[in-house]
Amino acid sequence: MYRTKTCGELRLADVNQTVTLAGWVQRIRKMGGMTFIDLRDRYGITQLAFNQGTEAFEKANSAGREYVLQATGKVIERQSKNPQLPTGEIEIEVSELRVLNPALTPPFTIEDESDGGDDLRMKYRYLDLRRNCVRKNLELRHKMAFEVRRYLDQQGFLEVETPVLVNSTPEGARDFVVPSRMNPGQFYALPQSPQILKQLLMVSGFDRYFQIVKCFRDEDLRADRQPEFTQIDCEMSFVEQEDILQMFEGMSRHLFKTILGIDLPALPRMTWADAMKYYGSDKPDTRFGMRFVELQDIFHAHPGFSVFDQAAYIGGICAKGAASYTRKQIDQLTEYVRRPQIGAKGMVYARVEQDGSVKSSVDKFYGPEVLGEAAKAMEAEAGDLILILSGEDAMKTRKQLSELRLEMGRQLGLRDPKKFSCLWVIDFPMYEWSDEEQRLMAMHHPFTSPKPEDIPLLDTDPASVRANAYDMVINGVEVGGGSIRIHDAQLQEKIFEVLGFTPEQAQQKFGFLMNAFKYGAPPHGGLAYGLDRFVSLFAGLDSIRDCIAFPKNNQGKDVMLGAPGVIDQVQLDELQIDIRKK
Ligand code: AMO
Repeated sequence: MYRTKTCGELRLADVNQTVTLAGWVQRIRKMGGMTFIDLRDRYGITQLAFNQGTEAFEKANSAGREYVLQATGKVIERQSKNPQLPTGEIEIEVSELRVLNPALTPPFTIEDESDGGDDLRMKYRYLDLRRNCVRKNLELRHKMAFEVRRYLDQQGFLEVETPVLVNSTPEGARDFVVPSRMNPGQFYALPQSPQILKQLLMVSGFDRYFQIVKCFRDEDLRADRQPEFTQIDCEMSFVEQEDILQMFEGMSRHLFKTILGIDLPALPRMTWADAMKYYGSDKPDTRFGMRFVELQDIFHAHPGFSVFDQAAYIGGICAKGAASYTRKQIDQLTEYVRRPQIGAKGMVYARVEQDGSVKSSVDKFYGPEVLGEAAKAMEAEAGDLILILSGEDAMKTRKQLSELRLEMGRQLGLRDPKKFSCLWVIDFPMYEWSDEEQRLMAMHHPFTSPKPEDIPLLDTDPASVRANAYDMVINGVEVGGGSIRIHDAQLQEKIFEVLGFTPEQAQQKFGFLMNAFKYGAPPHGGLAYGLDRFVSLFAGLDSIRDCIAFPKNNQGKDVMLGAPGVIDQVQLDELQIDIRKK
């Protein structure tokens, strides 16, 4: 037997037992006649003590960091206890030490606060994963996936696996493709989600399906995006939107309770239109207020400042207590919104002074009564700072103001990762205009059902059609989203037509789905959560990378595996792929 106990379990009650532990050397302290080693495994750290004159003492002194050791000895009460450690009241007086494997000195310290940079830690991810703080995130991930399975199983959902080698679908992100050796010149695509397959399972009568499943999307990476990520993918038959919202609010409540001990209140619901109007985002961070107030009516009634006069939209936010912001801080905010990623032309500010008067950057264009009116509309009080953006395109300006609001929320400490604010955003539009493609694109995906009352608008004003689609948003992060699906072949054909597919293209790409709908498709709907995002929110992480065992970097690379990499000519020839420059 390699060990009789783990490094995390011994307590005072175990004193006088003889035990054997195995683990890695966290730290060695040589104190003259005694040497101490902190031995670490997944479960904790236990102090080993070695007395001069023993064979074990000599071996301990020649060990190094991260050596793999096996130690046998007696549990004794410690002279100087360590209240920080659960095992801090005892130590092992080692009588026998075996070096199971020596180790090179690791390229960075295996501590919560490591001296290794991101790149180095990614290259040696197996060492990074030894760090307590990283491992804890994966333990949390395991627990969450386990509780998801428990909840869904109790609700009668069946976990069904769907294939990874599928074919390309034209909506959404770019596909990752895999060449087929047996079918030269043809490619599989890796699924962006099992959307169509789960709908077919409903046609098959599975009624309630789920899968914790890898999805693949070739898109630009951000802190909350990975090229391969995991969904908690779900679908239900004979349901309306309300049934789905209830079921998955229940799942979130179960997770909050079992994992964090938090009783989640009923989730508020906000229409997409309101989310855009008041927060400039379809995933508003509602941990704090600072809602947008539209000011164009007030300023247009008193022309003078040409920027505002020409703006179709003027919106402001009120930062409570921030009137003390210095000129420098305000200039930095202006720089922030003018960065190309945000793209505002400038920012107007106004301070509400202690005497209630308003001092602004546009004082020379407006009298005190106009600014007073704006401050009143924004419910600004003495000590508050008002920030205003304007523009010709209302939607673009709202998005810029949203970035400013989030930045102010961050600066004012209103985005506490330990505080949670969850909501449903509902009534998404069916379509959004794509400048790149110069056509309407499905906002969710082309299988989403329009609101029945908006179906007549498909012919006259498709851009105004609302969908039976919903997202769950937590702290400004879209953790999940889904919709009620179309189950009628004719309506599905119509939706493809609005998206610009000819009947032949629709038939070629989705003929099997529309055909399946002709064999008795039940009304159905579902949603998918991003497991990585859910875990990183619960862990209070800035990036989903930290809750993925082997993530990709911002260039989509796994620097440890060297993936993606070149393949040899023999493999290329077999696949009949010619990558030589023509
Ligand atoms: P959607 O595309 O909204 O819906 O994806 C569902 C959820 O998956 C997560 N997610 C991601 N997480 C990490 N990295 C990514 N690149 C990434 N992309 C998406 C998000 C998102 O809310 N088939 C539909 C669901 C349905 O209609 O049932 C779908 O895939 O948390």
